[in-house]
Amino acid sequence: MFELNLDIGHFLDTFWQKKPTVIKQAFIDFEDPIMADEIAGLAMEEEIESRLVYKEQDQWQAKSGPFSSFEKLEENGCTLLVQAVDHWHEEAQELVRPFRFLPNWRIDDLMVSYSTIEGGVGPHIDNYDVFIIQGSGKRHWRVGNKIAMQEFAAHSALKHCEEFSAIIDVTLEPGDILYIPCGYPHEGYAIEPSINYSIGFRAPDQNELLSSFADYCLDSTDAAERYTDLDMQIREKPGRIETQELNELHKIMLSKCQTPEDLIPWFGAMISDAQHELDIAKIEQPHSTEEILNLFSEGAQFTRLGGLRAVYFQQSPDLLFINGEQFNCEGFTELGHYLCDQDDVGCEVVELLKEDSDALTLFTKLVNMGYWYAI
Ligand code: SIN
Ligand code: CO
Repeated sequence: MFELNLDIGHFLDTFWQKKPTVIKQAFIDFEDPIMADEIAGLAMEEEIESRLVYKEQDQWQAKSGPFSSFEKLEENGCTLLVQAVDHWHEEAQELVRPFRFLPNWRIDDLMVSYSTIEGGVGPHIDNYDVFIIQGSGKRHWRVGNKIAMQEFAAHSALKHCEEFSAIIDVTLEPGDILYIPCGYPHEGYAIEPSINYSIGFRAPDQNELLSSFADYCLDSTDAAERYTDLDMQIREKPGRIETQELNELHKIMLSKCQTPEDLIPWFGAMISDAQHELDIAKIEQPHSTEEILNLFSEGAQFTRLGGLRAVYFQQSPDLLFINGEQFNCEGFTELGHYLCDQDDVGCEVVELLKEDSDALTLFTKLVNMGYWYAI
């Protein structure tokens, strides 16, 4: 259980997306939920994204996993980074919970790094907001101001930015947090062998949204409206695209998303889709609805699978979007929303499940899909 020692209201008003800050002792008596050898173990797995970053003869190197050995980690100046550790490691997943004061749809994943002395990935800019939690060890961090900056490939798989002057220059100790909004240059180097936890919050940009929406339209079976020009007139200037023609093209394009509600099926599916593989257990023997109720009455709690994304829209309360799929919760929105808002559910939902057979059927289905599991 990690308890965040932070005035959240003040943090949101003063720092969130506005400026970087250091939160000393955000976690008092912090203990690592994962050990260096476990981080290395995860980096050996095919389905888990990992990287080793180090320098060789003064040249930056970045190698992608999976790895079968870790000789480089016996030397100084090396960092091993593992993505989406919350999908694979229950104790590390707990570290995401204190950040649920921010919405599910903005949380990206928990990245964990292990650095030997002097290890770091070099000066860079991230396109997401990040809380970097210091686990064991000490790491020296510098953060610069958000100004236009050259970025370049220090290695084909490692983007760096130019040198910057620091507005934050700090040594993080276990339990400290460095919050860096999107776009601020930063670099961290380990003073002692270090474990760092980065909780990233990605905000889609216009191009990502448009490209994803276009993919959704292409996949859709709905007939697409085509441009027509029944009232064509003789053209004296065939090279010119008329204003009213451009207006018509604009109208056709926008008709797909005239209102914010038009975005719901696409955005719900897109944003709830896991960016990294999930550790979904194969269910040999699906549970019946009665078994689910029995498990609750025996005191079982069900927890949401690490990294599973579950959301709903204020504007469309009858729909749930879970792992890229749309589910209906008409008639039992209270339960549906509770499943998205809470990490765990226990006996408090039994009455809601008993009241509505559709609710129980849906919850049983989600358990049988491996999305919620009894603990
Ligand atoms: C790291 O943990 O080494 C990288 C974190 C970051 O700067 O994004
Ligand atoms: Co970074």
